[in-house]
Amino acid sequence: MKITLAGQGWTFDAEAPDTVLEAAEQAGIRLPSSCRNGTCRTCICLSTSGAVRYKIEWPGLSLDEKREGYILPCVAIATADLTIEAPAASQF
Ligand code: FES
Repeated sequence: MKITLAGQGWTFDAEAPDTVLEAAEQAGIRLPSSCRNGTCRTCICLSTSGAVRYKIEWPGLSLDEKREGYILPCVAIATADLTIEAPAASQF
């Protein structure tokens, strides 16, 4: 799957079982993160297109947030090409 960071125009590939966060790091892109297990919400970002599934049963997102397109990249696995908004992302 191809992940695009809308603001920066950066792209990277993410394939299961890697999470979006892990795939970004492998591509040299650091997204905000802390717990990396879907509870702290540090990594929350808006996905304006695409689809994900979660590797844990209850990621820390409300139903409304899910409907609005928010995802937790640390536990999200892309199931379609994704566009995400992550203004705090950096390259390393
Ligand atoms: S890093 Fe804590 S929820 Fe993603």
